[in-house]
Amino acid sequence: MSDTIESALHENRHFPPPADFVANARLKPEEAEALYRKAEEDHEGFWSDLAREKITWHKEFSVGLDDSRAPHYAWFTDGRMNVSYNCIDRHLDQRGDKPAIIFEGENGDTRTYTYRDLYNEVGKLANGLRASGVKKGDRVVIYMPMIAEAVIAMQACARIGAIHSVVFGGFSADALRDRIDNSGAEVVITADGGTRGGRVVSLKKTTDKALEISSGTVRNVIVCKRAGNEVNMTEGRDVWWQDLVADQPADSEPEWVESEHPLFLLYTSGSTGKPKGIQHASAGYLLNTIVTNEWVFDLHDDDVFWCTADVGWVTGHSYVAYGPLAIGATQVVYEGVPTVPDGGRWWKMCQAHGVTVFYTAPTAIRALMKLGDEFPGQYDLSKLRLLGTVGEPINPEAWMWYYRTIGGERCPIVDTWWQTETGAHMIAPLPAVTTLTPGSCTRPLPGIVADVVNEEGESLGPDQGGFLVIKKPWPSMLRTVWQDDNRYRSTYWPKFGGKYYLAGDSARRDPDGNFWIMGRIDDVLNVSGHRLGTMEIESALVAHEAVAEAAVVGRPHDVKGEAIVAFVILKDERPTGTAAEEMVKALRDWVSEHIGPIAKPDDIRFADGLPKTRSGKIMRRLLRSIAKGEEITSDTSTLENEAVVTQLQGKA
Ligand code: WTA
Repeated sequence: MSDTIESALHENRHFPPPADFVANARLKPEEAEALYRKAEEDHEGFWSDLAREKITWHKEFSVGLDDSRAPHYAWFTDGRMNVSYNCIDRHLDQRGDKPAIIFEGENGDTRTYTYRDLYNEVGKLANGLRASGVKKGDRVVIYMPMIAEAVIAMQACARIGAIHSVVFGGFSADALRDRIDNSGAEVVITADGGTRGGRVVSLKKTTDKALEISSGTVRNVIVCKRAGNEVNMTEGRDVWWQDLVADQPADSEPEWVESEHPLFLLYTSGSTGKPKGIQHASAGYLLNTIVTNEWVFDLHDDDVFWCTADVGWVTGHSYVAYGPLAIGATQVVYEGVPTVPDGGRWWKMCQAHGVTVFYTAPTAIRALMKLGDEFPGQYDLSKLRLLGTVGEPINPEAWMWYYRTIGGERCPIVDTWWQTETGAHMIAPLPAVTTLTPGSCTRPLPGIVADVVNEEGESLGPDQGGFLVIKKPWPSMLRTVWQDDNRYRSTYWPKFGGKYYLAGDSARRDPDGNFWIMGRIDDVLNVSGHRLGTMEIESALVAHEAVAEAAVVGRPHDVKGEAIVAFVILKDERPTGTAAEEMVKALRDWVSEHIGPIAKPDDIRFADGLPKTRSGKIMRRLLRSIAKGEEITSDTSTLENEAVVTQLQGKA
C-alpha cells in the first residue's frame, strides 16, 4: 500500500478517454455533466427520477427520501416492486433468448442460460422454497460453489421476498455456524461440492458440521448436485435441489415487496471479533447496481461482461447476481481458480466467450502478472474494450501491466472504490469522461457526495490525508447491522454529529481532485481483496487451548496486498525449534478451521509477552514495525516489557 501512496505523490501519467470509446459510450461527457449538475441542484429529485426510469414498479412511489429517522435513511418508501422481476421477467419480451449467464466449470463443462432459462429455473426453485414453507422475510443461507445455481438461488429468494445471506464457500463450519445463528436462518441452500484448484470442496459436509454445532433454527437443507462427491442426507431435513424442483412449475408470482424490504444480509469483518450482518434494502440497492453497470461499466446490449468475484462477496452480489441481470446483460460465471490448468485460464475464457468488459481484483492481477506475459500472449484479447478493478488500491505497476498486456493500451481501466456497506460503486471513473491516473479511483459518481475531512469534519485541501466520508445518503446504502443497530450507529455515524457516513478508510485528494485511498483507519486487514478483522483472527487464536494472548497485524505483501502476522503468547513457555514449528502449523490449521483458509496467518511469532504500554495497551504500531522487519528506532522505554521486542523480532 505504501507503494501506492508514495507513487500517488509523484504519479504524472494520465490517460484521457480514447476518442472511439467516447463516441460509443452510454454516458458521454455532456450527459455526465448534466447528471452532476442535476444531482447537485436536487439530490432527492435526481435519485427519484432515476428510480422511476430504471426500475419497473408494481406500485409507483411518491416519497423519494425519508430522512426523518436519520441516520436511518429510507428511499422510495411507499413503492412496491420485486428485484427478481426486474432482473428477469421484464427482459423476456425482448431478450428471452439472449444469454444471461455463460457458465463454465473448472473442469471445463459449460452451460448457457438465456433469460427465459433463468426465468424457468428461478421460478421452479422459488416455488420449491415456498413449498418448503419459506415466506417473505425468512432468512435463507446460501453456501455454494461459484456456479450459476448460486445466482439462481439468490434470485429465487428475492422472488419470494426471503432474505438471503450468502456465505463464501471457503469459510469453515464455525464461520458458517456463526452466520446461520446470527441470521436465524431456517433454510440452507448448498451443494454436494464444488471444484476449486483441482479439488472438490465438500460444502455439504461442512454444512452438516455447522448444523451440528448450531443453535438449531435450520429446518431444511437444499442440496444442489454438482460435484458428485458422496454426501450424507439427513432424512426429513435434507432434500436434493433437483428433486425439490422436479415437479414445480416455472411460473411463480413475484412477491411485491415494499422498497425498503431487506433484500439480503452479507456478513463482513469489522473491528470487533464478530462479523456484522450488513443489511441492504431492495429498491435502492437495485437502483445503484443498475446505474453503475451503465455508467461505469458502460454495458451495451452486445457486451459480454465478466466479473470474476465470487457471490460470497458483495462484488458478486452487485456485479454478478443483480446489476448485470437488471440491465439485461450477458455475463460469464466461472467456478474455479485462474490457474487451472495454467495461468492462461482466464485469458483463454476471455477469448472463448468473447468477453468485452472484464472486472477483477488487484491481487489477481498481481498474481497473474507474476506468471509473465506469455499466458495472455497466447490468446486473442482484442474484444476487450474496458477493464475494471476493485477491492484495494491498485499499485501503478500492476495497473500498467493490466493496461498494456491485457488491455492492449486500448481499454480504459475503471478503478472502483466502494464497500459491502455502500452496495455499489461510489468513487470511480466514467470511462468516456474521466482522465485516468494509475492508482487513483478518481472522482465520486453523480449523486455521491464524498469528501475527505479532518476530526472536526472540515473539508481538507489537496494532498492532506483524512477521513473518507459520504455527506449525503444514497439509495444503496446499508440500512443497519442485522440485530445490532447500536453497532450500525457506532461504526458508521460516530463522528461529525452523526451527519456523515464514515467509510473507515483514510484518503487524500490530489490537486486535480482525484481521490487516493490510503488504507483503513480501523483494525481491518485487506488480504487478497478480502476484508478480515484482526480481532476476529485474534479471537480464533485465543480460543486454542495452548494460547494465552494474541495480537494480529498486517504486513505489506506484493501479491496479497497484506499478509497476516500473528504474535502469540502461549500458556506454557515459549516454544523454540521443532516445537515452535509444530505449534505454528497447529495454529494455522486452527484458524483455517475456525474462520477459513483465507484467514491463516502467514507468519506466527512467539514471545513471553506482548509489547504493552505501562497502562496495558498493546502497542500495535510497534508490532506493525516488527512485522515489516523495520529497525526499531523509536524509544521503547515506555514499554512495560522491553525484552519481548527482541523475541518477537526473532533475535532471541
Ligand atoms: C477497500 C469490496 C482502494 C477499501 C467492494 C474499502 C478499495 C474496502 C477499493 C471494502 C479501491 C475497495 N481502491 N481501496 N478501488 N475498493 N477498497 O466491503 O478499504 O469487501 O473500505 O467491498 O476495500 O471492502 P469490501
